[in-house]
Formats: sequence, structure tokens, C-alpha cells
Amino acid sequence: MHVIKNIDNLRLWRDGLKEKGETLSFVPTMGALHDGHLSLVKEGLKQCDNVIVSIFVNPTQFAPHEDFDSYPRTIEDDIKKLQNIGVQAVWLPNIDDIYPNGAQSDIHIDGVSEPLEGEFRPHFFDGVATVVARLLRLVNPTVALFGEKDFQQLQVIKKMVHQENIDVEIIGAPIMRDENGLALSSRNIYLSAEEYKTAIQLNKILGEVANDQLDESSATQKLLNVGFDKVDYCTVRNSETFELEPPNRVLAAVWLGETRLIDNMAIR
Ligand code: PAF
Repeated sequence: MHVIKNIDNLRLWRDGLKEKGETLSFVPTMGALHDGHLSLVKEGLKQCDNVIVSIFVNPTQFAPHEDFDSYPRTIEDDIKKLQNIGVQAVWLPNIDDIYPNGAQSDIHIDGVSEPLEGEFRPHFFDGVATVVARLLRLVNPTVALFGEKDFQQLQVIKKMVHQENIDVEIIGAPIMRDENGLALSSRNIYLSAEEYKTAIQLNKILGEVANDQLDESSATQKLLNVGFDKVDYCTVRNSETFELEPPNRVLAAVWLGETRLIDNMAIR
């Protein structure tokens, strides 16, 4: 596996694939890799001849009060995991590779980025859209893969590549869950044993909304009753526009202490 640390080497490696006529899947990540990331990589290996994974904790998608400094960084472990599943390359950009003129967002996506996560984390999608556009332009992959756990992020990225004329196919992959149904997330390591017992209620309650056993406001109340400290939203929306109609996906963001969890589910 190539461990690429600068843009010149990235370009050399990328040009080599083009010369051989080989296709490339790209999985952008912020590291602290878990089975959810690895499932994206495995799908990438099916889609194309090669897979490259980037590991870059992107400062522009964190607000000053959020967890940028404490975000888990486990680079040695991440590299081993990628090596073990047969990834061809991992790219570790440095801040100047991505933000040569300073870490600032310069892309805004109207509509899909505004409700839900956009309301509670107003800086977030501009940061994600900016970094993903820059990563995609540097890697120039055939396809790029993102998990459906960040469901709104996936739709924002699809709209961003269209708006920015980036020639790539965006593929969404299903949420990976642990044995208790908790959606895998790098932030799950922040949960204490006690908080974990509450966290695993989230997918169960969303399942009840998806099966029409609970409405949004009863679900919000139930989330608070089982021990979540705060519910930013628990709502049924359209999965492409995030408007109220036609509703086909339940999405929630909840807090346990300092940890914010998100999850979502299709409505059958
Ligand atoms: O989902 C993530 O890990 C990040 O938001 C992404 C897409 C890698 C951009 O930093």
C-alpha cells in the first residue's frame, strides 16, 4: 500500500493509473476508522480497479466550540486496517495541501444544506462541501463513496459535485451498525458504558417511527424519557430535499453529555 504524504506523489501515482487505463474509487475520511469506513472501502474495491482513502481532520467543518482538537486521531491503526483489506493507497494531506490560502470554506449549497444539521451546525456543510470539492479535484477519482449515516451530507455532496461541475460518480453505502443496532461512528468512543446503554435506544426508537408506531413528537419525548439529554431534532422528511413532503426518511440528532449522535432510517 502506498502511503502518500504530498500532492506531487499523489499526482504521480494518479497519472500512473491513468496511463494503465485503470479506474479509481475514493473514500474520503477523517480517520479513526471503523467497520463503517471499511465497508465503504470494500464497496470501492468492487467498483474500481484501485481504492485510495484520504485521512484528514477538516478544520472548516468544526465550529470553535466543537471537538476538532480532541477528535480521535489513530493514524497508525488506520493504516494497518487499510493495509489488511487491500487498499492500494492512503493519502495523508497536510493543511496547506488543502487550504493553501488559509482554512476557510468557500462553497455553499442552497436548499439541502439548510435544514436539520444546517440549522444546528451552520458552519458544517460549507466546510464539508469545500473540503470534499478540493479532495475530489486533487484525486480525480472515477467514483467516491460516502456512508448513509451522514445522510444529509451525502445529498449535499451530490448537489455540490453538480454545482461545481466535478466529474465523479457519488455512491452512498448503507449504515453499518453494531450488534445492538448503534450506527457506527468515530465519536462512539466518547460514550461511557452507561451512555452506551442509552445510545442503543436511538435506532430502536427511530425504527418505531419508521414502522408508524410513533409520531415525531412522541418519539422526541421517548428519546428524552430513555435518557438522552437533548434532542436537536427527530423528524420525518423527504430524503432528497429534506422538506416535509413527501416524507420517506426519519432523521435524528441527539445528545448524551458532550457527545452528539446522529442516525436515520428509511420509512417503509
Ligand atoms: O464524513 C466525514 O468523515 C467527513 O465529513 C468527510 C466527508 C470526510 C469530509 O471531511
